[in-house]
Amino acid sequence: MLLALAAFQPLKADEGMWLPALISERIADMKAKGFKLSADDIYSINKASLKDAVVLFGSGCTGELVSDQGLLFTNHHCGYGYIQKHSSVEHDYLKDGFWAMNRSQELPNKGLSVSFLEYMEDVTSKVLKGYKPSMSERQRDSIIRVNSQRLTAAAMAKGKGLNANVEGLYYGNQYFLFVFKVFKDVRLVGAPPSSIGKFGGDTDNWMWPRHTGDFSIFRVYADKENNPAEYSEENVPYRPKKFFKISLGGVKEGDFTFVYGCPGSTKEYVTSDEVRYTAEVSDPQKIALRTQRLDIQKKYMSQNQAVRIQYSSKNASVANAWKKWQGEEKGIKKMKTVESKKAYEKRFKEWAKGNRYNGVLEKLEALYAERNPYFLAYEYYTETIRTIELLNLASNVTSHLRSFDAKNNYTESFFKDYYQPIDEEIFVAMVTSFNNNMEERFKPQYLKDALKKYGSVEEWKEYIFKNSLFTDKAKVLALTEKDLDKAKSDPAFEMFEAFYHWYNSELRPTINRLNSEIRVAYRDYMQGQMDFEKNKQFYPDANLTLRVAYGHIKGFSPADAIYYKPFSTLKGIIEKDNPDIFDYNIPQKLRDIYAEGGHEAQPVCFLATNHTTGGNSGSPVLDANGNLIGINFDRVWEGTMSDIAYDPEICRNISLDVRYVLFNIEHIGGAKYLLDEMVFVK
Ligand code: ARG
Ligand code: ASP
Repeated sequence: MLLALAAFQPLKADEGMWLPALISERIADMKAKGFKLSADDIYSINKASLKDAVVLFGSGCTGELVSDQGLLFTNHHCGYGYIQKHSSVEHDYLKDGFWAMNRSQELPNKGLSVSFLEYMEDVTSKVLKGYKPSMSERQRDSIIRVNSQRLTAAAMAKGKGLNANVEGLYYGNQYFLFVFKVFKDVRLVGAPPSSIGKFGGDTDNWMWPRHTGDFSIFRVYADKENNPAEYSEENVPYRPKKFFKISLGGVKEGDFTFVYGCPGSTKEYVTSDEVRYTAEVSDPQKIALRTQRLDIQKKYMSQNQAVRIQYSSKNASVANAWKKWQGEEKGIKKMKTVESKKAYEKRFKEWAKGNRYNGVLEKLEALYAERNPYFLAYEYYTETIRTIELLNLASNVTSHLRSFDAKNNYTESFFKDYYQPIDEEIFVAMVTSFNNNMEERFKPQYLKDALKKYGSVEEWKEYIFKNSLFTDKAKVLALTEKDLDKAKSDPAFEMFEAFYHWYNSELRPTINRLNSEIRVAYRDYMQGQMDFEKNKQFYPDANLTLRVAYGHIKGFSPADAIYYKPFSTLKGIIEKDNPDIFDYNIPQKLRDIYAEGGHEAQPVCFLATNHTTGGNSGSPVLDANGNLIGINFDRVWEGTMSDIAYDPEICRNISLDVRYVLFNIEHIGGAKYLLDEMVFVK
């Protein structure tokens, strides 16, 4: 029994976000786990490879090409801002969805670009040319800057629409040049209604079972020579070197799968001190502060339909990290990451005696001990004082008095989504928390004076909201350049400034100095870890550069007696459907289609063990043959500690089954013509 089981076990845990250019180092492991293609199929500079079908979408998501006509899939939450910009009361594409019925109906998106990776190259020695170990950090930085500029300029001069940057990997032990082709004419082709694309809303965010149809469709346009070009009516659909074929065969538990995309940021190699700070100090404090804010927002949102709409997006963004941090805190505790890192550090210190890494951990410990109180004060400030909307308005408007139109556009959109009772209550809660929890030595004199003057936070709040001109939209709109003095003596502006000044003078210089020392020490510690564990294959922390993560389709057990199957279906959407609950109110059309029968088993989402993070949203999820089986969009909250430590038992990425995308295009969008340009495999 055990033996038979062992045969199906992967060789190693499915951890890692690997550089495509170095994927040959992983290919044996990938093949052992079921991968059917070669390293060259994933990444090649001599022939078209899968990398040519993957893009960085905007500046924080991933997308993939699915036709030879530049058709692109990404997430609904990645296209959200663009869909919203095209929406009005008459055409509410967020609410109703949007479907271009032909090319001429596709909508251009100012500011949106997609970047294809042309190639990546190890340029460590070129970047460090001229550097000697006797030099100071500042000299090192400036040498790196100058060399990098030369490299990127040379790379960019080689063609139209090229962009290049040099990125440090492993804390600056290695440098890679990344050269991209950037397309700026990207048009919206289709999006489901939010009741499908955001189904489950924040209730289901970071959760399994999940039923969100989180996709949107765009098309990349190029000039007649197939080169990047600014938007023009003359442009034609881009003909990519490669696009993904779509698998209709479905997936089953245990199947090999990989994700090709742009993960944003991880910190897998930090010390136990950093992990403890994150999981035991920072996360819990920030969660508690956000719980207060969310409760206040929700109280007013549940009483008033207009307020619910005003605060739904704000509430969602506050809740997103709030939920993620809870998973991270819990996961780190459960994995005992602090303890295991401590044990590792003990062994490392033993080993380092007598080599050049001797003392590096002790140095990091001292730096953290000094930095953390300051950093916590800073985080506390950003999660309290900086969340008071009125103060932010006062500051933004005052610093933009000269650009009258920009100021007034901002003011209009601010008041469209502003509900003062929420802000007043948040003011009291956040200032009270700040006063109760900030270390005495850090408290700004301004705070102490104000509390003495007004007697209580409540009275202070009353004074500010009664006397600030910024609570009055008409008055804010009327402000001109000439009113600078008036704006600057406003109590809301004064309060913002006083705290900002405190942060800039009391916290920021120390934090910056210590952070750069920590960064330098990590360069040593990272190299030390690689020398200490000669046989381990390391992957660099995520930094929004293209990576491959591979694993397999798999359910998990989040708690005793619970097992989560890795697949969800349309039947589950109907079970959740509830016209009275905003997050679960599906379109009538979907109810009608379901009622026709035959769609119960329609696949919707699936779980896998791919190691992903923020930025991987929209990434293609591929099968062993490199065919598209899904679109990545989330992780389970119980596994969000994967940014720090990956647990193969719990960490799961959540993908939308591509067959649900096709279902929506056909049945909800009535845009079956789009399927004609895709290529399907069984
Ligand atoms: N949790 C996902 C991510 O981190 C999706 C967020 C968007 N969805 C939402 N309901 N807020 O980006
Ligand atoms: N939802 C994330 C994103 O938008 C993905 C994740 O954190 O797993 O990139």
